[in-house]
Amino acid sequence: MKKICAVLAIAAVSSLMAADGEAIYKAKCFSCHKENAKTSALNKSQIIAGWEASKIVASLQGYKAGQGGPMKAVMKPIASGLSDDDMKAVAETIAAFK
Ligand code: HEC
Repeated sequence: MKKICAVLAIAAVSSLMAADGEAIYKAKCFSCHKENAKTSALNKSQIIAGWEASKIVASLQGYKAGQGGPMKAVMKPIASGLSDDDMKAVAETIAAFK
């Protein structure tokens, strides 16, 4: 029984690590949204630092579905490359930026 619990605990931890918001941000968002998301991406986006995580997820889901502002074509392939878990993780990272 103890052994089973340990295995489950390890599985839970590694699934948390599968979507590492900070790593996703650095790899896929930093190049445009910059340090702590305080820069307007390509001089076009709003500054997303400190947005509610739910608002960021909604925005990313929108881009994935083909919605957004005049520059949505830039965000579509990026959002499409994120799973729901990835979006949640990266949104929480950005929401924590001050
Ligand atoms: C190649 C540059 C680029 C990269 C990389 C990029 N973005 Fe963007 N992002 C933009 C642009 C340009 C816009 C404005 C699009 C529009 O007109 O709606 C934008 C808009 C957004 C918005 C909505 C802000 C607004 O103005 O409404 C969010 C949220 C966002 N990006 C999150 C992300 C996240 C999260 C990542 C990484 C997974 C990411 N972006 C990667 C360029 C980029």
